[in-house]
Amino acid sequence: MGNSVAIKDTVVESIFGVLPEHANSMGMLHGGYMMNWMVTTAALAAVKLSRGSATLGALDSIFFINPVKIGSMVLVRSWVEYVGRASMEIGVEAYSENPLTGESSLTTLSHMAFVATDARGEPREVHTKIRPREQEREIYEQAVKRWENRRRSIAKRHEYGLDVSEYAPDSRWRRRVSRIVLADDALYGEYMFGGKMLLLLDELAGTIASRYCRGIVLTGSVDGMVFYYPIRVGDIIDIEVALNHVGRTSLEVGAKIIAENPYTGRRRHASTAHLTFVHIGRDGRPSEVPPYRPETENELARWREAEERRKNRRIMVEQLQRLAELNKTVYE
Ligand SMILES: CC(C)(COP(=O)(O)OP(=O)(O)OC[C@H]1O[C@@H](n2cnc3c(N)ncnc32)[C@H](O)[C@@H]1OP(=O)(O)O)[C@@H](O)C(=O)NCCC(=O)NCCS
Repeated sequence: MGNSVAIKDTVVESIFGVLPEHANSMGMLHGGYMMNWMVTTAALAAVKLSRGSATLGALDSIFFINPVKIGSMVLVRSWVEYVGRASMEIGVEAYSENPLTGESSLTTLSHMAFVATDARGEPREVHTKIRPREQEREIYEQAVKRWENRRRSIAKRHEYGLDVSEYAPDSRWRRRVSRIVLADDALYGEYMFGGKMLLLLDELAGTIASRYCRGIVLTGSVDGMVFYYPIRVGDIIDIEVALNHVGRTSLEVGAKIIAENPYTGRRRHASTAHLTFVHIGRDGRPSEVPPYRPETENELARWREAEERRKNRRIMVEQLQRLAELNKTVYE
């Protein structure tokens, strides 16, 4: 028999100091580190509630609202909003704080789904459920809806996982990087940690964006992702990144991750991602990106799909303030 707890009882907080090794040459934090810290804190909330290991199954879009500078502190908070059988809907938000003035600002907030797993990486039941306090009811109901929508969006996960076709093979702005997954890419056990994957993706997608702009770029956003297949330590991962769309000062880079078992040669599509970057000029402000004209049929198709995602992002950004207000009910 399990028990139940309020959302407030599941809160985990972490603090990270922004050091030069986390930042670009203008002293601004790379988005990849922020995402790694967010997934780490969310994983702690999931592990603590489920009393065992938990893996990142999916994440919702992440928007970076304010840049963070070297010397700042980053406070990440995370909590469990809903528990299904093995899956957990997790809320996460990050604030940056200037330690000299105490001034703090919201950097980003999102939701993630973790799945409790056993030693073989198979889902295991979570016995502690969420019983929201009165003021947490709206947050809880939204989490239930998200969980239901997520079930629909992952229904074809096994089929998608078999799609190991090349990403954007005809793109003029594309690169493919291969790596062996090392023991320190896992948080514990033998599977690659989702936070490490986001750190790597941000770096690789950022290199193509930076090369295209011939300048510094900052991560603007990462669209929602689903992790179809686990990646083991010792696997070879191929990450293919390609330029999809160019706006006035921002651009979208797509990425596809394929994991290969080196012994059997079995290849699986682990996930696909879309990241946006903003070109930053020497004055630290957004600066124009060289124009780009899609030429081949596939470039045009990817351009149009990216325009749709761009419209959706605008709508999602408008909802962030309301979400930030709602999150406060967890602490009341
Ligand atoms: C997550 C994972 C363990 C699920 O395995 P599975 O065999 O598909 O699981 P099941 O069909 O038994 O579903 C178990 C639960 O997880 C949920 N789920 C499954 N895949 C999910 C995903 N990708 N995202 C979110 N939830 C997921 C199901 O809806 C179900 O929810 P419920 O228990 O609340 O009803 C498996 O897909 C996996 O290992 N994915 C890779 C995760 C990973 O490695 N992340 C880091 C990447 S670097």
